[in-house]
Amino acid sequence: MPEQNLFPGKYGYFSPDGREYVITDPRTPRPWINVISNGDYGLTFSQGGSGYSWRTDAQLNRLTRWEQDLLRDDWGKYIYLTDEAGHCWSAGWKPVAAEPSEYRCRHGFGYSIIESRNFGIRSVFTIFVPNDEPCEVWILELKNTSKRTRRLRLTTYLEWCLGVAPDWHREFHRTFIETEFDRDAQAILARKRLWEIPTARGHWNASWNYVGFHGCSLPPNSFDTDKETFLGRYGSIQRPRGVMGTSLAGRSGKWLDPIASLRANFVLRPGEERVVCFTLGAAGSLEQARDIAQKYQSQESAKGALAAVGQRWETLLGTTSVTTPDPALDLMVNYWLKYQAISGRIWGRTAYYQTGGAYGFRDQLQDSQVFLPIDPARTRDQILLHARHQFKDGSVYHWWHPITEVGLHNDMSDNLLWLPFVAANYIAETGEVAVLRDREPFLDDSAPATLFEHCHRAIDRVWAKRSPRGLPLIGAGDWNDGLSAVGLDMKGESVWLGHFLHRILLDFSDIAVRLGERNRSVEYRGRADLIREALNQEGWDGEWYWRATKDSGEKLGSKENKEGMIYLNAQTWAVIADVADETRAGQVMDAVERYLEHKAGPLLLVPAYQTPDANIGYLSRYAPGVRENGGVYTHAATWAVLAAGKIGRGEMAYRLFSKINPIVRGRKPDEYFAEPYVTPGNIDGPDSPHYGRGGWTWYTGSAAWLFRVAMEGILGIRPTTEGLLIDPCIMPTWKVFRVRRKFRGALYDIEVRNPSKMIAGVSALEIDGVTVHITSRSRGVLLPVFPPETDHRVVVTMGKPWR
Ligand code: GLC
Repeated sequence: MPEQNLFPGKYGYFSPDGREYVITDPRTPRPWINVISNGDYGLTFSQGGSGYSWRTDAQLNRLTRWEQDLLRDDWGKYIYLTDEAGHCWSAGWKPVAAEPSEYRCRHGFGYSIIESRNFGIRSVFTIFVPNDEPCEVWILELKNTSKRTRRLRLTTYLEWCLGVAPDWHREFHRTFIETEFDRDAQAILARKRLWEIPTARGHWNASWNYVGFHGCSLPPNSFDTDKETFLGRYGSIQRPRGVMGTSLAGRSGKWLDPIASLRANFVLRPGEERVVCFTLGAAGSLEQARDIAQKYQSQESAKGALAAVGQRWETLLGTTSVTTPDPALDLMVNYWLKYQAISGRIWGRTAYYQTGGAYGFRDQLQDSQVFLPIDPARTRDQILLHARHQFKDGSVYHWWHPITEVGLHNDMSDNLLWLPFVAANYIAETGEVAVLRDREPFLDDSAPATLFEHCHRAIDRVWAKRSPRGLPLIGAGDWNDGLSAVGLDMKGESVWLGHFLHRILLDFSDIAVRLGERNRSVEYRGRADLIREALNQEGWDGEWYWRATKDSGEKLGSKENKEGMIYLNAQTWAVIADVADETRAGQVMDAVERYLEHKAGPLLLVPAYQTPDANIGYLSRYAPGVRENGGVYTHAATWAVLAAGKIGRGEMAYRLFSKINPIVRGRKPDEYFAEPYVTPGNIDGPDSPHYGRGGWTWYTGSAAWLFRVAMEGILGIRPTTEGLLIDPCIMPTWKVFRVRRKFRGALYDIEVRNPSKMIAGVSALEIDGVTVHITSRSRGVLLPVFPPETDHRVVVTMGKPWR
């Protein structure tokens, strides 16, 4: 049987193996992009061939210019082609946007390819970032499919940025850039004598310490590095003067509006093919720039590097896999969520809707959880990196930039707690409580302290800031950045933060025992009891938990409020954090279903705020229904899946998962707009006229979490310090599913059978062909920890737990 494309739609489909998303029409409702990164160098690439490149930090070290214009999407690094008849087109559609007779854009893991046919010339334009070099490689394969001999002229074009150069200051910045053409290396080189970042030598007194290069495998017929001669005065990038002429102006030096453009002219006979390779990068030295440019003049080197990229992703994505009755869940969990989290969020930290570059204290810590079942050492590195960005009083940077280490120190009350939260998850995964004895300095004290100390300083700081009735203070916001003015006077409270702290106190109480810290364990357990009581007494609103109080004492998220009457996080985390007892857990999830759940998933709050409230913050200033103001905020929506699974509502957990699954939303692309292969940060809620429209794709903390909640909340494969727990909470119609996962170095091949249409509960267990008697009365079953490097086959049968 021929292999079928998956989830075909108006603008594209997944390849039969699910490893590529193939776009068949360049006019997608918004740019549908790929974020490609090797952990240092990276680029964005849209279905129109636009995008930008950076090294290490997309904001401080941008290699090429790009403006955030999602409607035109015409900033990029382009390849133009012209022929003897004066036809002009681009290998990636934009910026010429000629009508191609064939077009496909294939976004894959670590690469994108645009295949098209224009005026009888077929082109395959592959772009990727090699695993270990600060550069990108473009492979352009051309074939003359017409019956005539063609005289082709190929011209590349990009604008240098080289560091930080805001658009409102480009006239200033361009005077520091100098370019030259290196004939031997067949490359344009670019340097900048100013880098607007703080350094030891002063804010305005450093050079950009890289060499930008753009090379070509064919000896260029000519080049240009001046936008004025290339474009023509008042010209346009759709039909630049340089592209239409026989050769480029050959200008270089210090006095230009700096670009890079290379020209190659050649003849293609009917049926003839030709491959041209290009490089673009930011090298640490002139020597390295030349070496890389020359290395990728060879097609073999380029193709070899591309194959190595494929292998790297195969290892990263292949370590865990699931097979369930839902292929849309499988596709997201097996490939795309992990890819998005790693390539986009942890390595690239940037996309189209937001150019980041910095590390968010809470953001990349949460993202790094995606590595737990893949390569937990990477999570550990992230934990230790963030520990180094904590102050001695326990507070942390809200975000900081690599390269400069400049960060924002504010009163967001939750940031610091993500350190113990993720550390506890790391310990559950690895059993390695010893990580807490690793030492890292503080930002304001170079004497290294144990990770345990870093964690308890965070916990103790939040604990110390409570209201008279024992609820934690919200400060400049908690997880919700938009609640930016609720508690600036340090009086307003946060119920959600209370739930979160409760979870951490419970976990760290257990961890402290294993670390031999008995007193602390008892202390934390006692605090957990106190805060749980306060939350249940003071934070309960009758049918659900209210969300916060302002400095004035006025509540948010209460039935007393006309707008913002109920907030999602205060409900989901009551369940996740074991604050709510069984009855209340049921009640709050009922309220989620009744008030918050809509067609595109659970909303962050309802109803949306219609007018700005100076004592809430910028959340209330968004258009109603958008982002945190009553949209589906995907990051938070994932927690509803976890909470539903936890209380045994399998149907609800799966339904919520599916509603926010981009493949499902993407079935109505003209309503949804966003890429169907990655999660969006938000989807408009019912208070917006664009109800159902997704946005802010790629750069969202929802990817790693959606992966985790599918694995743990639905499939129920949960790491605990004692071992791997199997506790599914699924659709009763699911007959069987399978999960392959590593745990502490051993490979678990788990098959879960469901012959009696259960939602949850495990009644039989077989390990490597041998039946194991289950003695536990709980819903799930705990698997033993096997020696590393061993493989085990586990068969779990669902049924009424043993009683
Ligand atoms: C943004 C922030 C994240 C925050 C969320 C909710 O995604 O990066 O840290 O938790 O918004 O406001």
